[in-house]
Amino acid sequence: MSYYGSTEYLANDDFVLRMKDIRKGNLDLGWLDAGTEQIEVNAASEKRGLTYLDLNKGSYGYDELPEIPRGPRGSAPRGAAYEVANQADLGPELNLKSDVWAYKVASFYEEAVSRQWDATTDVPWQDLARYETPEEVEIAFAQLCTFFTEVEMIATDLPAKWCWRMNNQFHEVKGFIASQAIDEARHAEVFRKRALAGGVGLMRALPQAEHSLKAILDSDTYSEASAFMHLLAEGNILTMFRFSEFISPTPVDKRMFQLVMQDEARHVSYGMQHLKWILDNTPERKEQLHAALDEAENFSLNQFDSALFEAMIVLAGKGTSPAQIKKGIEIVGTLQIKQIEEYFQRLRRAGFEDRIERSKFRDLLAMISLSNQEPTLPS
Ligand SMILES: [Fe+2]
Ligand SMILES: [Fe+2]
Repeated sequence: MSYYGSTEYLANDDFVLRMKDIRKGNLDLGWLDAGTEQIEVNAASEKRGLTYLDLNKGSYGYDELPEIPRGPRGSAPRGAAYEVANQADLGPELNLKSDVWAYKVASFYEEAVSRQWDATTDVPWQDLARYETPEEVEIAFAQLCTFFTEVEMIATDLPAKWCWRMNNQFHEVKGFIASQAIDEARHAEVFRKRALAGGVGLMRALPQAEHSLKAILDSDTYSEASAFMHLLAEGNILTMFRFSEFISPTPVDKRMFQLVMQDEARHVSYGMQHLKWILDNTPERKEQLHAALDEAENFSLNQFDSALFEAMIVLAGKGTSPAQIKKGIEIVGTLQIKQIEEYFQRLRRAGFEDRIERSKFRDLLAMISLSNQEPTLPS
């Protein structure tokens, strides 16, 4: 306990007298008139129900929220009456709208809560036993799931780390990243379950991944963390999921990847829309984001030399014979090109196309002779 109240209430005569007074029926009732705004609220779509978008009006809305929303630094909900002098100061560090905001964030939150799924029952685990998978392929898949389990746990920690640092004026963003934390906890759960359910169990934890994940967690600002995680890392993971669905050993795994992908796409979209918001509203922060992504890309490169990369090759080639490995390398080369192309596309969509010239990924493709290849998957 480190925050002690300024008053010992039971030893305070005013407090005790007032309590007795209330119990005699002598109410103040001043709170009946808070002076807050009353607005008419209707669901735009009855089928969809009452969303945060429907509440986006007047003092309750988010469109009117300025870049510096002067006001309470405690837990007063946006639109409630408050007296600044009496509110607790919770010490939020993220107090500018552009620190956290993203276009469409209320929609992302609504989508997140309406599309929750259950790793225990929505994956047909009982069907796994029906499929024969070569041993080395199952081991490679367990390695892939081990990597994903590591990644997903940091993706759970990251939004949790920043959530309470955001001013409560931005409750849509807080709600969204809280939903992300539960999404990621479920992803860590589903990959752990898959590694164990296949009989192999977990494989090696990957230092390359961990250093990169630590760099995300240690980012100096939320926006740098978001550019690194939502845009770059989860973007890469989303491409890997799509790819992993393609090379999945069983239909059970395909289902698993379809479920995680719908969440991941939402997290990446938030990252893109947050970046776009920053660039549109506070372009002076561009260089800071460039510098963060310079280092983020550097960390990401390192993952291309690891047990994970080899596991992907074995999975894609469906085995370890020379012919299978050759085919695996070809397919994974396609994945690498796709990851980089899709990252560049996201940068373009966020209005950050000048990042592409500066990116280290172009040099990577040239160095491993992938520059001029067409990223088409062999059938
Ligand atoms: Fe995830
Ligand atoms: Fe994610």
